Amino acid sequence: MKRVLKIAAILLVVLVVGIQAIRPARTNPPIDESQTINAKTQMPPEVASIFDRSCRDCHTNKTVWPWYTNVAPLSWWLSNHVNDGRRALNMSEFGKLDANGQDRKLRQICDEVSDGVMPLSSYTPMHPAAKLSDQDKKTLCDWTEKERERLSQLAR
Ligand code: HEC
Repeated sequence: MKRVLKIAAILLVVLVVGIQAIRPARTNPPIDESQTINAKTQMPPEVASIFDRSCRDCHTNKTVWPWYTNVAPLSWWLSNHVNDGRRALNMSEFGKLDANGQDRKLRQICDEVSDGVMPLSSYTPMHPAAKLSDQDKKTLCDWTEKERERLSQLAR
């Protein structure tokens, strides 16, 4: 029995070390500052600061990758979140969207935070500052509403 446990323990160590070889790319693609959501909208500092503390890691090309994002299998899961997050909304590449796309993303930002879906609940335990108060949500929604109005005037 002891021998079986020992072999199992060795296999486990080999497995844990072995999977470290599979390293997902932890990317931060270059940013064209003229195409960011900050450049494309009129964003007051309080809105910028909410995005920065609560959304940046998954929705920009300025992800901060702490050491544990290097450790498999956690690294696989976390890099997927960032890739999926950027695909759904990349605030660093907001200017690539046409007027309709920008309008839709602004609306979704308010929807997702109002419903409590964003920031992801798996993110906030390690990033308590990312949690949004009711006031934060209101700040975001008031702003997206104003920007959608302003951008639709521009597009006309
Ligand atoms: C830990 C990573 C993470 C954080 C932090 C995060 N998101 Fe997301 N977000 C995602 C992922 C992953 C998706 C894609 C979900 C999907 O496709 O189901 C997503 C999708 C979205 C979408 C698109 C929804 C749609 O219907 O296509 C919006 C808008 C969004 N997030 C807004 C935000 C905002 C605003 C914040 C900050 C308040 C935020 N997210 C914080 C990971 C994150």
